[in-house]
Amino acid sequence: METPDMSSLMPSRPELFDFEGISMTHFFTDNWENVKNFQARPDDILIATYPKAGTTWVSYILDLLYFGNDDPDRQTSQPIYTRVPFLESCFQFIPTGTELADNLKTSPRLIKTHLPVQLVPKSFWEQNSKVVYVARNAKDNAVSYFHFDRMVKLQPEPGDWNNHLQKFMEGKKVCGSWYDHVSGWWEKKQTYSNLLYLFYEDLVEDTGREVERLCSFLGLSTPAEERKKITKGVHFDAMKNNKMTNYSTIPVMDFKISPFMRKGKVGDWKTHFTVAQNEEFDEVYKQKMKNTTVKFRTEL
Ligand code: A3P
Repeated sequence: METPDMSSLMPSRPELFDFEGISMTHFFTDNWENVKNFQARPDDILIATYPKAGTTWVSYILDLLYFGNDDPDRQTSQPIYTRVPFLESCFQFIPTGTELADNLKTSPRLIKTHLPVQLVPKSFWEQNSKVVYVARNAKDNAVSYFHFDRMVKLQPEPGDWNNHLQKFMEGKKVCGSWYDHVSGWWEKKQTYSNLLYLFYEDLVEDTGREVERLCSFLGLSTPAEERKKITKGVHFDAMKNNKMTNYSTIPVMDFKISPFMRKGKVGDWKTHFTVAQNEEFDEVYKQKMKNTTVKFRTEL
């Protein structure tokens, strides 16, 4: 018997276009009226990142801190992307991010976004909701984004590595410029005190310390024993082997090309950048980051 052709059932890769000055695809703008008018609550916790900076990692840490002991079913049968809705997402095969967030029964609601700070719905600021921003150094972020775009059919085709890197430097990736994203959120932190700015590199270096930092920001008195258990449960290997956190339950990712939980390292960029690419990247970086004080580590 011939194998049926399933390709017509897969959504095709979307085009990138300019949306309010930011490169986007329709998957993140189709539901814009509802995103813009989203009603945040004072106890909401917004997890904000540039794509591939450690969103899932921090989402899972927060989920365990708040709900790890509540409901065993949540941990064993609800994938992390349903526990922590992706606010601006509008994929046809699941409810929109705003619908999922509106229907969350838990308190606090954990909500994820990749929006640059200026596009975040204003109710989050009005309600003084807590925000956890996670940033990752540009080089590793660019590498992780490349493999993600290769394997996720809902992202524009990245081309080859060099092509992708050029687009990354030009800010022509979904969610726009990495440089503007990390520095825009860094600026926000200076005036909005309910924002914790975390670094992926710090999380890799000492996860337990960052879990403690999160607890103190969130006003949680999670006992040390419990924090230790959570730190173990969110280790890269544990999350890679956990169906609820490794995205293996989602059909649009092709793990034969690259797994979602890929390497989880600081400094993997060294296996991708040529000497010439690294020099060009450093030059561009200096220019683009000249007006911000945020500093990253590209190795530990
Ligand atoms: P790599 O592609 O470099 O491996 P996001 O969740 O924002 O999409 O980010 C995904 C990146 O975070 C991937 O990076 C993934 O492996 C990494 N990551 C997720 N969980 C992690 C963990 N527990 N420890 C280290 N890295 C983790």
